[in-house]
Amino acid sequence: MRIILLGPPGAGKGTQAAVLSATLKIPHISTGDIFRAHIKGGTDLGLLAKSYIDAGKLVPDDVTVDIVASRLNEKDCEPGFIMDGFPRTIPQALMFDEMLEKFGRKIEAVINITVDDDVIINRLSGRRMCSCGRTYHIKNNPPKVEGICDVCNNSLYIRDDDKEETIKERLKTYHQQTSPLVDYYQKKGLLKNFDGSKPIEVTTREILDSLQNK
Ligand code: AP5
Repeated sequence: MRIILLGPPGAGKGTQAAVLSATLKIPHISTGDIFRAHIKGGTDLGLLAKSYIDAGKLVPDDVTVDIVASRLNEKDCEPGFIMDGFPRTIPQALMFDEMLEKFGRKIEAVINITVDDDVIINRLSGRRMCSCGRTYHIKNNPPKVEGICDVCNNSLYIRDDDKEETIKERLKTYHQQTSPLVDYYQKKGLLKNFDGSKPIEVTTREILDSLQNK
C-alpha cells in the first residue's frame, strides 16, 4: 500500500505514521527526519536544509524531490510506503506523480489530518523527540519515564523549529504552500479527511478502518 500523510505541522502525521508503519509493515518515510539526519551528520545538504527549517520555510523543491527519489529506490519501498511530509507543494506533487509513473506505481490513499492552529501551537511547544524517530508530548503522550524514550532509552530532545515564532511561520507556510494539495488530491478522488484533535488511538483506528474499507 502507498499512502501520503497530509496535514499542518503538529497534526500528528509522524505519530500516526509510526503506528501505521508497524501495523501495515511498510516503511515510514519522513522528509523532515531525512533532513534532520543530514543536519546531525553535518552534511552540505544538512547545512542547506537547516537554513530553511530554522526559518519555518520549505527546503527547495528540486532538493527535496531528489531525496525522495533516491529513498524510493531502496528495496524496502517495494511493497509500499507511508510518505510523511511529502509532497508539500503543488510542484512537488506533480514531480512525485511523474516519478511514480516511471516506477509503475500509484498512490492508493491520501490521509489528510486536520487540527486548528491554536491546538497546534500548544502541541508543538510540548513535543519531545527521540533520535529513534518516536514522538512524545509532555501532557498528551508522555513517556513512561520523564525525558527518556520508552523503546530505546535515549534522552528526549526539543526540536529547534518548535519555538513559538518558528511554529507560527511554519503554519503560515503550510496555509500558503501546502494546503492547496488538499484540493489537488480531492480532485484525484484519493483524499480521506480525519479530525486530528481526537485522541491518538481513535484517529489511528479511524485511519486503519478507512484503509481496510478501500
Ligand atoms: P517535518 O518534520 O515534516 O515537520 P512538520 O510537517 O512541520 O510536522 P511535524 O513533525 O512538526 O508534526 P506532525 O504532524 O508529524 O506531528 P507529530 O506527530 O510530531 O518538517 C520539518 C521541516 O523540514 C519543514 O518545516 C521544512 O522546512 C522541511 N521539510 C520537510 N519536508 C519537506 C518538503 N516536502 N518540502 C520542503 N521542505 C520540507 O505530533 C505533534 C505533537 O502532538 C507530538 O508531541 C505528539 O505527541 C502530539 N500529538 C499527536 N497527535 C495527537 C493527538 N491526537 N492528540 C494530542 N496530542 C497529539
